[in-house]
Amino acid sequence: MFMDNNVLKAIESAQTTQELEDIRIKAFGKKGSITELFALLKTFDESTKKIKARELNILKATIEKALQAKKDILSTQELAQKLKDEKIDMSLFKPNIKGSHHPVMLTLEHIINYFISMNFTLRRGPLIEDDFHNFQALNIAENHPARDMQDTFYFQDGKVLRTHTSPVQIRTMEQEAPPIRMICPGAVFRCDYDLTHTPMFHQVEGLVVDKEGKVSFANLKYILEDFLRFVFGEVKVRFRSSFFPFTEPSAEVDMSCIFCDAHGCRVCSHTGWLEVLGCGVVDENVFKAVNYQNVSGYAFGLGVERFAMLMYGVNDLRSFFESDLRVLEQFS
Ligand code: DAH
Repeated sequence: MFMDNNVLKAIESAQTTQELEDIRIKAFGKKGSITELFALLKTFDESTKKIKARELNILKATIEKALQAKKDILSTQELAQKLKDEKIDMSLFKPNIKGSHHPVMLTLEHIINYFISMNFTLRRGPLIEDDFHNFQALNIAENHPARDMQDTFYFQDGKVLRTHTSPVQIRTMEQEAPPIRMICPGAVFRCDYDLTHTPMFHQVEGLVVDKEGKVSFANLKYILEDFLRFVFGEVKVRFRSSFFPFTEPSAEVDMSCIFCDAHGCRVCSHTGWLEVLGCGVVDENVFKAVNYQNVSGYAFGLGVERFAMLMYGVNDLRSFFESDLRVLEQFS
C-alpha cells in the first residue's frame, strides 16, 4: 500500500490557500511526489501494476478530498479577513457618474411639450393589438402590404405587436365622444433592421376630431408647420401628396434640410428636403368603423427616433439602442 502521510499532514497544517496550492503542486505537479509514484507503476509486472494502480488512485482521491476540504475552510477564513480589512467607508464614496435621459426620451419629451402647449391631451393604447384596431378599422384591407409578414410581428392567435400608434385613434374614438384633441406617444414594432430601422421604435400619433366642418386640412397644416419650427427652428415646410389608407387626402410632410440649409447634402440625398411625418384628413371609413357621424378630423404620425436622429445629428439609428455609454452620455 502506498502511503503518503506527509502530504496529508502538510495539508492539515497549511495556514493559507497559497500554502495549500504549493502542497498541491508538490504532490501532483510535473515532478510531484504522487506524479512520480504514478510514473513508477510501469516498473511493476502486469498483475502487481494493476493492484498498485488501484491503491495509488485511492491515495490520489484521498489527498484531493483533503485538499478541497481544507481549501473550503481556508478560503472562507480569508474572505472574512479580507472583508474585515477592506471595509469601505461609504461617507467617502462620491460617485461622479450622473444618470441622464435617453436621447429618444428627451426628443419625445420635447415633442409632447409642444402638443400639450397646444391643448392636446395624452392617450395610451396596448402594445399587443388585434387585427381590427391595428388594420381593419383603419381602412387597411385584408391584402394591404402593411399586413405583410415581413413587416408585422404576429402572435399565433392572430394578434400583432402594434405596427404603428394609429390604432389608438380607434380606441380613443371608441371610448370617447367628439371633440377629440389627442396625441399618443408609444413604442411600435416592425420586423426590420438596418441603418434607419430597428424592430422597436417610437411614434407619436395625433388626432383631432370635431363637428363636421370645424376641422380642416388648413388647421392640420398650421399645427404641423408650427410644430416643426418649434423643434427645428426656421425651416421651410412642404406638404407632398401621398397615400395612407386611413386619411383622404393624405400628405407626407417635408422640411428644408437643416444640415445643408436646403442646398443638398448626403442626409437629404441632395434634394434639400427631409421627410419628417405623415398626415391627412381622417378617412370616412375610419369614422364609420367607430360609429362617428357628422364629424371631420385630421390625423398625423411621426417617428420619434427619426426626429432624434435629425435633432442630434446621429446617422445610425441602431446606436440609440446599443447602450454604449460613450454615445448616450453625449446627450445628457
Ligand atoms: N401610421 C402611419 C405609419 O406608420 C403614420 C401615419 C401617417 C399616421 C398618416 C397618421 C397619418 O395618423 O395620418 O407609418
